[in-house]
Amino acid sequence: MKNIFGVNTGSEDTNIEIDLNNIPKHIAIIMDGNGRWAKQKKLPRTFGHKAGVEAIREIVKESSRLGVKYLTLYAFSTENWKRPKEEVNTLMKLLVEYLKKEFNELNAQNVIIRSIGDISKLPIICQEQLIDAYNNTKNNSGLVLNLALNYGGRSEIVSALKNIYKELQEGKISLDEVNEDIIENYLYTKGMPDPDIIIRTAGEQRLSNFLLWQCAYSEFWYTNVKWPDFKKEHLNMAIYDYQNRDRRYGGIK
Ligand code: IPE
Ligand code: IPE
Ligand code: MG
Repeated sequence: MKNIFGVNTGSEDTNIEIDLNNIPKHIAIIMDGNGRWAKQKKLPRTFGHKAGVEAIREIVKESSRLGVKYLTLYAFSTENWKRPKEEVNTLMKLLVEYLKKEFNELNAQNVIIRSIGDISKLPIICQEQLIDAYNNTKNNSGLVLNLALNYGGRSEIVSALKNIYKELQEGKISLDEVNEDIIENYLYTKGMPDPDIIIRTAGEQRLSNFLLWQCAYSEFWYTNVKWPDFKKEHLNMAIYDYQNRDRRYGGIK
């Protein structure tokens, strides 16, 4: 089954064809560029973050519509604590507001809201909202909206190693049993497929500590578009490009 989307590439209208039988199961997005978006408009950075939160709605809806199963959004990294306190506070406040404001709509869309990262370091109110959102949506069967919060790929691997070591010491597993599948069971993403595609907005071409283990065979897609301006057309363009990649996983065809 094919579908035609009219996508404005900037210079002219182009029709791209998305194959609805080959939709990535897991899309992960590094939502970058909120600050630069605001700066360009001579607004404070916090306005960029507000606009960034607004941009999420359309992308969740479109992902659901296309049948994406997992959408992981990098919202706050373990390194983002380095930012000025006021900016960190605004980001935390926006998270709580987002969960409150969007909950009914997300629930109606059958979305499961969950998170990856060490949320125990977030303000209590954020932790409570996240836990409530998960408990109230965990029986839904649609898109899994996975918010990466206080997430860092390296700290995820450190925490997995510590937990595996503990189980080894307690004799719950043996060293011979430790393999890639076991390690995956100790990551925040346990039970989820690896991201098929990682999208990064705002022009930077780096991972910034995102999904280091899981990205082994992910396709990367970059755009100069800043996150607040990222629309469903851009998502469709990314999926279209993804569908035209040759994923060989080290083999030959
Ligand atoms: C992404 O936008 C949001 C977070 C990292 C929390 P930035 O705040 O990084 O925006 P730029 O990169 O400074 O433009
Ligand atoms: C990555 O963006 C983290 C998030 C989008 C949450 P950053 O803006 O923090 O990354 P760097 O500092 O440019 O690498
Ligand atoms: Mg940035």
